Amino acid sequence: MNERIAAAEAEALERIASAVDERALEEARVAVTGRKGSMSLLAAAMKDVPKEDKAAVGQRLHDAREAVARALCEKQERLRAEADRKALAGIDVTLPARALPVGSLHPLTLIRDRAIEILRRLGFALADGPEIEDEFHCFDALNTPADHPARNEKDTFYFDSGKLLRTHTSSVQVRAMESSPPPLRIVVPGSAYRRDEIDATHLSVFNQLEGLYVDGDVSLPDLKGTLEFFFRELFGGHIEVRFRPHFFPFTEPSFEIDVKLGVPGREPRWIEVAGCGMVDPAVFDAVCRSRNDRAYDPDRVTGFAFGMGLDRLAMIRWGIRDIRALVENDTRFLAQFA
Ligand code: PHE
Repeated sequence: MNERIAAAEAEALERIASAVDERALEEARVAVTGRKGSMSLLAAAMKDVPKEDKAAVGQRLHDAREAVARALCEKQERLRAEADRKALAGIDVTLPARALPVGSLHPLTLIRDRAIEILRRLGFALADGPEIEDEFHCFDALNTPADHPARNEKDTFYFDSGKLLRTHTSSVQVRAMESSPPPLRIVVPGSAYRRDEIDATHLSVFNQLEGLYVDGDVSLPDLKGTLEFFFRELFGGHIEVRFRPHFFPFTEPSFEIDVKLGVPGREPRWIEVAGCGMVDPAVFDAVCRSRNDRAYDPDRVTGFAFGMGLDRLAMIRWGIRDIRALVENDTRFLAQFA
């Protein structure tokens, strides 16, 4: 029996050694350790070994099987390493990989985040409100009479329910005052909707950023200082900012803000960037009625509000000539902001 084991072991090792690839090695493995393999047959023959020899022969067989298993393992590793080496021959694995296209933030996101960052430094907290609004929050509470052109079906998207797509983020002013007593200092970015003819400077949906500050003694100089600071931070310390008298139903006095900007190759010129004003007492009165308290008593609080179009700011900031570029998702356009 010992001779049979020695012979089978020698043959098995020889077969393993001569396997030229993983397939041949697998065949050798089956022939040696498979169910009908030489080593398995020897194990089956153990039952015929006389009792007194069983221990010694069993040990011999065990050693032989171990030796074969080790040989199989080592050979397999060697064949794999060789296959890897062949597969990589002629390939320079130190060559830098091709860059993958990396996305970037949309210009509207960039300008919105920058605007919020500046205002947060001044203590304005982020606020939010619904885009589907009722007439009270969009118009009535903002002192906008029923016959005001902005309320016209031609200018505003109405639902059959009587609700509407908000025409400005100013509706959030009212909601914020309804839910929190003064002092209140909020910045509200969000979409607004108007039934405009679509052209290079108009879309039917655009992005606004609104601000509101209400406290016991907020004054016009606070408004001017805050917004001058804001636009200088946004466009650069050298720019001029001017306040031009205007009219909004919800502020009195009201202003439009222009900044004087030099577009490369052209004379600096005044560009309108925002609307603003001191909150009209009629707005505070509406909020008091809605809250059913005197927290916003116009005899005790004052405030300023401002609103601007982020699309417009992005167009000015980067010299974008057609607003539609902001919604077309053309990667040739977007990649310029990477
Ligand atoms: N809501 C105004 C608009 O949409 C902007 C504005 C906001 C003006 C707050 C004054 C105060 O044009």
